[in-house]
Amino acid sequence: MPASAEKFTAERILWKQCWTDRLISLRLSSDPAFRFIPGQFARLGLQIPGTGFIWRAYSIVSASWDEYLEFYSIVVPEGEFSPRLARLEVGDEVLVDKTPHGFFTADRFPDGEDLWLLATGTALGPYLSILHEAAVWQRFRHIVLVHSVREAVELSYQPEIAALRRHPLWAEHGHKLQYLPVVTRETVPGALSARIPAMLQDGTLERATGLTLSPERSRIMICGSPQMVTDTHHQLKSMGYQLSRLSAPAQLALENGW
Ligand SMILES: Cc1cc2nc3c(=O)[nH]c(=O)nc-3n(C[C@H](O)[C@H](O)[C@H](O)COP(=O)(O)OP(=O)(O)OC[C@H]3O[C@@H](n4cnc5c(N)ncnc54)[C@H](O)[C@@H]3O)c2cc1C
Ligand SMILES: NC(=O)c1ccc[n+]([C@@H]2O[C@H](COP(=O)([O-])OP(=O)(O)OC[C@H]3O[C@@H](n4cnc5c(N)ncnc54)[C@H](OP(=O)(O)O)[C@@H]3O)[C@@H](O)[C@H]2O)c1
Repeated sequence: MPASAEKFTAERILWKQCWTDRLISLRLSSDPAFRFIPGQFARLGLQIPGTGFIWRAYSIVSASWDEYLEFYSIVVPEGEFSPRLARLEVGDEVLVDKTPHGFFTADRFPDGEDLWLLATGTALGPYLSILHEAAVWQRFRHIVLVHSVREAVELSYQPEIAALRRHPLWAEHGHKLQYLPVVTRETVPGALSARIPAMLQDGTLERATGLTLSPERSRIMICGSPQMVTDTHHQLKSMGYQLSRLSAPAQLALENGW
């Protein structure tokens, strides 16, 4: 954890959105020297008088070319960090470790036909950054974004997801995106309702998209609760998919959301 001022910058909150009492987004000013690959995470810090620094990992939501850094955060009432973060307002300071972290990036895959982005909860965030890269839209024929939440009110960023299809930087590719919201604890028209591993197993995701899943054509990113990542990984392993490594490129990339 960075503890000296050479290792972090102090940034200001420029914008704040409260989606629900448990979900917020923040935009911070960004040091021009902070450069990241979409899918990476930052370490955010707060200095607590009498306690010292607290640091937590947060996936970056904004594009690599945005002049700000955006984050999408859960508020865990009993957590040490997130309730303090949620109480801050525009103009307040948050520390940002100068080094971005992580390998959950789309450039780790060999080319394929279809890119599947599977998320629960706040793990939607890294995909929004990844989907702001023109190269991703050019590389794949189809892109499927699956976002699973308990209740419909937690389906954040819907206007932004719709706007991705019309973005001028990749306008001719915008039609490639299919967005599949999943709501598991209430019935919502237009949303799927089962857990992601079950829908991979029984073909629901293939039917919903009209796409065939196969190790030859599918590249799959999985991010969410550790249990969801484990269960989805096991399901896909049983279907013949393998983790993509630098030494052995394959179909899957995983990141635990905490
Ligand atoms: C690589 C990485 C990337 C991360 N990216 C994000 C992000 O983009 N947004 C974000 O909100 N959090 C993210 N986290 C989690 C984040 O670092 C904090 O754990 C979280 O914000 C809660 O902090 P806390 O101190 O309040 O509670 P903590 O003591 O850190 O966590 C308490 C408990 O809250 C639950 N929890 C923690 N994070 C989440 C979450 N995101 N969704 C649902 N339940 C959770 C877990 O049960 C955890 O044990 C990430 C973690 C890692 C390792
Ligand atoms: N969301 C809320 O309203 C709420 C309210 C109070 C407290 N909390 C607490 O906050 C924490 C995080 O809640 P959250 O709703 O953000 O995250 P979550 O419990 O991980 O649920 C988010 C989505 O992931 C799904 N999911 C959970 N485990 C899965 C698995 N193993 N495989 C596939 N899908 C899985 C959930 O489906 P299922 O619905 O089938 O689990 C839901 O659709 C939890 O510890 C919870 O106790 C949440």
